[in-house]
Amino acid sequence: MEQQKRYGHFDDQHREYVITDPQTPWPWINYLGNEDFFSLISNTAGGYSFYKDAKFRRITRYRYNNVPMDNGGRYFYIKDGDTVWNPGWKPCKTPLDFYECRHGMSYTRVTGRKNGVEASVLFFVPLKKWAEVQKLTLTNQSNEVKNLKLFSFEEWCLWNAATDMENFQRNFSTGEVEIEGSTIYHKTEYRERRNHYAFYHVNTPIQGFDTDRETFVGLYNEFADPQVVIEGKPRNSHAHGWSPIASHYIEVTLQPGESKDFVFLLGYIENEQDKKFSAPQVINKDKAHALIAELDTTQKVDQAFAELCQYWDALLNIYNVRTGNDKLDRMVNIWNQYQCMVTFNFSRSASFFESGIGRGMGFRDSNQDLVGFVHQIPSRARQRIIDIASTQFPDGGCYHQYQPLTKRGNNDIGGGFNDDPCWLIFGTVAYIKETGDFSILDEMVPFDNQPGSEVTLFEHLKISMDHVINNLGPHMLPLIGRADWNDCLNLNCFSWDPNESFQTTENVSEGTKAESLMIAGLFVVTGKDYVALCQKLGKTQEAERMQKAIDAMIEAVKKHGWDGEWYLRAYDFYGNKIGSNECDEAKIFIESQGWCTMAEIGAQEGMVAKSLDSCKKYLECEHGMVLNNPAFTKYIYEYGEISSYPEGYKENAGIFCHNNPWVIIGECLAGRGNDAWSHYAKILPSYVEEKYQTLHKVEPYVNCQMVAGKDAFKPGEGKNSWLTGTAAWMWYTVSEFILGIKPDYDGIRIDPCLPETASDYTVNRKFRDAEYEITIHPNGAQKGVKAITLDGQLVDGTVIPYSAGKHVVEVTM
Ligand code: BGC
Repeated sequence: MEQQKRYGHFDDQHREYVITDPQTPWPWINYLGNEDFFSLISNTAGGYSFYKDAKFRRITRYRYNNVPMDNGGRYFYIKDGDTVWNPGWKPCKTPLDFYECRHGMSYTRVTGRKNGVEASVLFFVPLKKWAEVQKLTLTNQSNEVKNLKLFSFEEWCLWNAATDMENFQRNFSTGEVEIEGSTIYHKTEYRERRNHYAFYHVNTPIQGFDTDRETFVGLYNEFADPQVVIEGKPRNSHAHGWSPIASHYIEVTLQPGESKDFVFLLGYIENEQDKKFSAPQVINKDKAHALIAELDTTQKVDQAFAELCQYWDALLNIYNVRTGNDKLDRMVNIWNQYQCMVTFNFSRSASFFESGIGRGMGFRDSNQDLVGFVHQIPSRARQRIIDIASTQFPDGGCYHQYQPLTKRGNNDIGGGFNDDPCWLIFGTVAYIKETGDFSILDEMVPFDNQPGSEVTLFEHLKISMDHVINNLGPHMLPLIGRADWNDCLNLNCFSWDPNESFQTTENVSEGTKAESLMIAGLFVVTGKDYVALCQKLGKTQEAERMQKAIDAMIEAVKKHGWDGEWYLRAYDFYGNKIGSNECDEAKIFIESQGWCTMAEIGAQEGMVAKSLDSCKKYLECEHGMVLNNPAFTKYIYEYGEISSYPEGYKENAGIFCHNNPWVIIGECLAGRGNDAWSHYAKILPSYVEEKYQTLHKVEPYVNCQMVAGKDAFKPGEGKNSWLTGTAAWMWYTVSEFILGIKPDYDGIRIDPCLPETASDYTVNRKFRDAEYEITIHPNGAQKGVKAITLDGQLVDGTVIPYSAGKHVVEVTM
């Protein structure tokens, strides 16, 4: 294999990924902030900040898909004689004597050295604060006195990230700022309906500033050579309209060996309506002053940083494994869990592939993200479930997305994705199993956020199941609606008009026969969960009613959903088979193999084993399993968006990492540990990191949504990193099915499925008020627990009964 260039490496001890070359094949980013105030930051300090909602409350401006790539961010310009440089290399791109970016758990540290000066910036959002701290440390490592000129830079976004990019006839006249001491305030539209403003502060007196972009950068200059920096002199510009920015100017003298800290703070404030102004036209700055006072010294900032680190220590101590395989341990103990938090926070809204404008929180996406996150902070998961369920309609259908700021369903996309309701069961059951908190089912939750429409959450689950049953097609399989999990399988769309959205267009649905085997499998899996829940609640009749529906679905799949070697994918509008050996292209799809094997439909008849074998035979390649095979080579009008993609990309035979774990779980349930592991390792970032840094392109420490498949121009190239259901599914798969530690209503079920080569391993698992140290002795078995002891006592069955306190568990396979 060709040796690929490496741009960095893992530092497990610090839970960091260390980037040693700024010119990564794509910006490698990190997320700052855990609740409310968030930032995206690349390895060259590009990116932006927002409050809650990347669309409606964007604080700083960012230019997506620009030239050069990754343009806009928090930039420090250091002018040392005639040399101007940035600690993160960009935007000046002055060659550095040393560069390093350490992405850690909710923080990033960028360090650059040039001509005997070191500049190290620690970026993070303190817990519970609406602000990004940028602690810059300048150190003179030379033998001479250094007289440096330091310019900071942030560019304000005019709040609504969408109109900020298009409504220039207005925007160029609305921008307003105020300057007070070392703080620059951004208050565009504050005079009218907004009650929020932002500020950029530094904890030292400044010798000048700029707030007007044109003055600072120069109309025909660039971020790489701002006029003011080149001249070495601020202009003290006061922005009126055009594009407001914030730049501090500080003169710094450093003796040999001397080091100085500067705490920059990017903050966001909301004022009560009647307390907006302190004088006509002057914003009330009380809250800003208070926030600044909390973070205006190195000591306070270091304390806040220590608290953030403790917070992550605690979160990552809930599930911790020691297998002796570093690559596995670092993903399970650090990066996979970290990515789960990020996907929980952002769903699919803001990344370097998601502009923060197009999509809010997805109904199905957020429910899946919950499964990766619920063990971390169950109370936040609880609230999320209620927020999601509040966007449901009385018939069980639901909005496909909602906005995080307003929590209202997104009308642009609407509903009609018939898999959506089932996911609510998936998310809620995971929450109850983790916490034992059945009271969530009694919460009163509205429909479409309408006050007065509230019913219990349990009722929402019931109508979710009913929505499937009430929408069955001619084969008694679920009607697909606009699409199922695969947003691009639009079987009622029929579009020849490029101006139509595949997702929202349903040109014909009357008389449709379009049915989904993916939803059928999903219904059986979540239905079994629902039935078990009903039994637990003593709702025997409801359990029986649903069991009948599940049995009928299983029969329908066996009868109409089996193609001989694998499960069909769907029936189209006309009732023709999709994903069948009879088709010219795309004969087999992964989604129905995943869900129907997870549902174990036809296991006794050999269907599950055959389906899993077919995945290996037809879908698997070097980089994972493709979504369908062979790829579509032409646009098929009656299939919608799926065939609009070139071969091997995205939903047309890309490796959609999200759905690989479905098959892996199918393998685990079937007890095929070797196969489960080999599929898993193929898409495990730490394995990819070792082999394919250049080819893979995107961040090597997290999963991406898609890796180009075997039919692609460039197989193995990754795209859409960070915000993908892959995170939660990888977590669910490895923690519960491979390592086999599965929360259940009454305790923890132990049921690993491992490769034969697995050695003994230990999992420390905090669960409710208990802490278990579980050691597994696989003894070469792939599956099958022989004996479990809990604190030395033999346990009956495979569930360790829950009881508070510390426990030691030994498992022999
Ligand atoms: C969406 C998911 C969808 C998947 C497959 C993702 O971009 O966020 O909701 O299931 O694509 O189409």
